[in-house]
Amino acid sequence: MKRIAVLISNKGTGSNLAAIISAIEKKKIKNGRIVVVVSNKSDAFGLQRAQKNKIPTEVLDLEEYRKCGKTRREYDLFLGELLSKKYKSDLIVLAGWMLILSEQFIKYFPNKVINLHPGLLPDGKKNFIKLSNGMKIDAIRGLHTNAAVQYAIDHKFPVTGSTVHFITPLVDQGPVILRSEVKILADDKVGSLYERIKKEEHKILPMAINLYCNNRLILKENKVIII
Ligand code: GAR
Repeated sequence: MKRIAVLISNKGTGSNLAAIISAIEKKKIKNGRIVVVVSNKSDAFGLQRAQKNKIPTEVLDLEEYRKCGKTRREYDLFLGELLSKKYKSDLIVLAGWMLILSEQFIKYFPNKVINLHPGLLPDGKKNFIKLSNGMKIDAIRGLHTNAAVQYAIDHKFPVTGSTVHFITPLVDQGPVILRSEVKILADDKVGSLYERIKKEEHKILPMAINLYCNNRLILKENKVIII
């Protein structure tokens, strides 16, 4: 049974956390359980969802941490120690986590941190992605939540979507596990488009976690192979 830590923030509503909890209940995720939900903000709604489901929670506010004279490096080390020693985590899932995690953190969990990104990403550092219909669009990197969705609308992309990938020290360039394309409609606003993207996220994130928990993801030359 893999021990999963889910990291969230207060930017979303914790809907992806809810999708993971539900997939575990329905046994769509087998061989995995959430051992802790961590937020960098105490008002993240996902914390309440976790508590309702009797999942332990931790709040690690970076600003508070800095007020005590500590550095970002120390924060990442503390988080790494907490998740490895106290919670003995096997998999870290960033389900709406807004802080970029440094190498100091990643070294605790090599190839064990997966991120959900509200845009389509290619493997590696290419700056475009080839869609399923052969068309190419720019990769949306470094933007969070609404801003990433707005970018796709502003740049008149025909399609956007969401990606689940392993993280590496290079932001939004890690090996892709799953992605889902979502068509952009002529009258779409951020709200309507993001709603459809989230519906897809609620499928691909639990699916990727299930693959991980059942040892079905292999990394070869920085690419994910699903076995
Ligand atoms: C998700 O849409 C996820 O892709 C995004 O935060 C949202 C959390 O929503 N992640 C990022 O922007 C990280 N770059 P939720 O709280 O409803 O699950």
